[in-house]
Amino acid sequence: MRLVELPRLPLATLPTPLEEAPRLTQALGGPRILLKRDDLTGLALGGNKVRKLEYLLAEALSQGADVLVTGAGPQSNHVRLAAAAARKVGLDAVLVMYSAAPAEVQGNYLLDRLLGAEVIFTGSADRSSVDRALDEVADDLRRHGRRPYVIPRGGASPLGSVGYLAAVLELEAQRAARQMQVDHLVCAVGSCGTLAGLWLGATWLQVPYRLWGISVSRPRDECLARVQSLAAGAAQVVELVLPPSAEMPTVLDGYLGPGYGIPSVEAIEAIRLLARTEGVFLDPVYTGKAMAGLVDLVRRGEIRRDETVIFLHTGGAPSLFAHTSSLLDWGATGQAVAASGAGQ
Ligand SMILES: Cc1ncc(COP(=O)(O)O)c(C=O)c1O
Repeated sequence: MRLVELPRLPLATLPTPLEEAPRLTQALGGPRILLKRDDLTGLALGGNKVRKLEYLLAEALSQGADVLVTGAGPQSNHVRLAAAAARKVGLDAVLVMYSAAPAEVQGNYLLDRLLGAEVIFTGSADRSSVDRALDEVADDLRRHGRRPYVIPRGGASPLGSVGYLAAVLELEAQRAARQMQVDHLVCAVGSCGTLAGLWLGATWLQVPYRLWGISVSRPRDECLARVQSLAAGAAQVVELVLPPSAEMPTVLDGYLGPGYGIPSVEAIEAIRLLARTEGVFLDPVYTGKAMAGLVDLVRRGEIRRDETVIFLHTGGAPSLFAHTSSLLDWGATGQAVAASGAGQ
C-alpha cells in the first residue's frame, strides 16, 4: 500500500471529531449514534470534499497548474470547497455550472462569488452538460496560455476517493482509542467517491461494521457500479489489491424524495430533529436525506436499537440558506418527528 507516499496537501483539520449524539439516540429510542463530524473539516465551512481535495490539489500543484476547473450546480458544496482550496494555494478557479445564473445569490453560490471564482453556466438543465463543458473550458484556457487542472463533477475520481480510504484509517484509530464496537456506518451518496473510498478502506482493514450509502441522486445500481469502478481506480493509485469477493456496501435509493436537490419532507424532519436534539445542522440535499434514511432503518429494525451506528456528517449546511422557504413552510413545529422518531 502506497498511501503515506502519495502527495497530499494538508487542507483539512484532522482528525474530525467523533461525537456521541445521546439526545438523538433518546429521540429514536436507541441505537447508540455517533456523528463523525466531517462537516468540520475546517476549510471554507467544511465538508467531505476537503479530504478529496487534499490529494487532488497536491496533484494539481505537482503538474504546475495555475487554474483549477471544476463544476456542478450553483449549490454544489464540492465547487465551493474546490474554489476555496484553489484560492488557498494561489490558483484561479473556473467553475462550470448547469442551467443559468440563479435569481438569488445565496448559499454555496454566494460563497463561490465571494471567493472570486469565474462562473460559467452551460444554459442546460442537464447535469451532464457540465462534464462536456469542463473539457472545452480547459482547452480554451490552454489556448490562452494557462495551465488548467480539471476536477470532474463532485470531485469523483479515484485519486479523490483516496481521501476516504485515509478517513477509514482515522476512524479506526478513534474506534480503537475508545475500544468501541460499531455495527453500522451510514453516509450520503452523490457522485459516489466518498463511499468508494470508505468501501476500499473498510474492505482493506476488514472493519466490523456494515456500510450503508443513502443515494440522493442516482439509482442504486448506478451507484454500485460507480463505487466499484472508483474504488478499483483508487486501489490502483495506492497499489492495493481489492479481494474480488469483497462484499459491496448497501446502497438505498428510496430516500431521494422529489429528486436531487429538492428537499423531501423526511429530510426536513431529519434536519429539524438533529438541530433540536444535538444543535447540529444537516443540509437539505445530502445529509438530511441520509439522516432520514438512518431514522427509517431504525424504525424498520434494520439497525437494531441495541446496536451502535456512526453517521458520517458530510457537511453541506451552506445550502440551507438557499432553501429557506421549503425549510420554513413545512409543518408548524416538527413535533411529528420527535413522536414518530421515538418509534411509537
Ligand atoms: C454535503 C455532501 N454530502 C455528501 C456528498 C456525497 O459525496 P460523494 O459525491 O462523494 O458521493 C456530497 C457531494 O457533493 C456533499 O456535498
